[in-house]
Amino acid sequence: MSFLIGASSKMNLTSTQGATYLDTFRELVDDVTDRELFVLLPFTSIWVARDRLTGSNVRWGAQDVHPEDSGAHTGDVSASMLADLGCTYVEVGHHERRRDHGETNELVAAKVEAVQRWGMTAIVCVGEERRLPLDTVVEAIDRQLGLLTSCDLRRLILAYEPVWAIGTGAQAAAASWVGRVHAAIRAGLVGLVPGAQTVPIIYGGSVGVADARALLGQPGVDGLFVGRQALDPHVLAAIAHTSVATMPGMSPERRVTTA
Ligand code: PGA
Repeated sequence: MSFLIGASSKMNLTSTQGATYLDTFRELVDDVTDRELFVLLPFTSIWVARDRLTGSNVRWGAQDVHPEDSGAHTGDVSASMLADLGCTYVEVGHHERRRDHGETNELVAAKVEAVQRWGMTAIVCVGEERRLPLDTVVEAIDRQLGLLTSCDLRRLILAYEPVWAIGTGAQAAAASWVGRVHAAIRAGLVGLVPGAQTVPIIYGGSVGVADARALLGQPGVDGLFVGRQALDPHVLAAIAHTSVATMPGMSPERRVTTA
């Protein structure tokens, strides 16, 4: 069992900057053996991640993918291309993609299928737009998850990312709230798909060093997905080193299936 600690740089870091970033981060987390670490850089830097992270304890991946494997889709990138670059993870359905590109739950499900078809693990982002009562939040998330019932649970990670907690000016959701939502997501998912108790659920949204410990201390929180604060590799490394008394609530099988 191990926590998953990862970051997306979003549309930040050129490949030159990415190389420096990864060299620094790799060295800072060289001693981390009990957590699974990953970094998602822009498409243009994934080859750099393969170059700089091969042989390290840090995995890499992409922030998006096209659902089809090849064809006339100018500017898009397929799962086969990402698999060829050694990606382990592909993020799908982030709020900013839904907002900027009108991505729907149907498209997200098709992307998940593509990612899994190529042997990678999909990190599917879910979350409510604004602060709402727990029941309403869970209903909204269940709708986002409804199309995933036939996907491969061994290659799936859920990222709970409440939209109101993402981005500059926002603050991370309270750990107790995150714990309650994760428990509700887990219960809903298990009701929907038997075997879903092994799917890791990680939290993202303004995560920083100050919040990491409390968030990871919640029983249902299997890891953290860091955004802007991870643009400083020292901060991401500090989060990766966060000491926590409890272990994540996921099954030991997960390590094997995402390896
Ligand atoms: P943020 O981004 O940490 O900058 O809020 C988190 C995310 O969008 O995953």
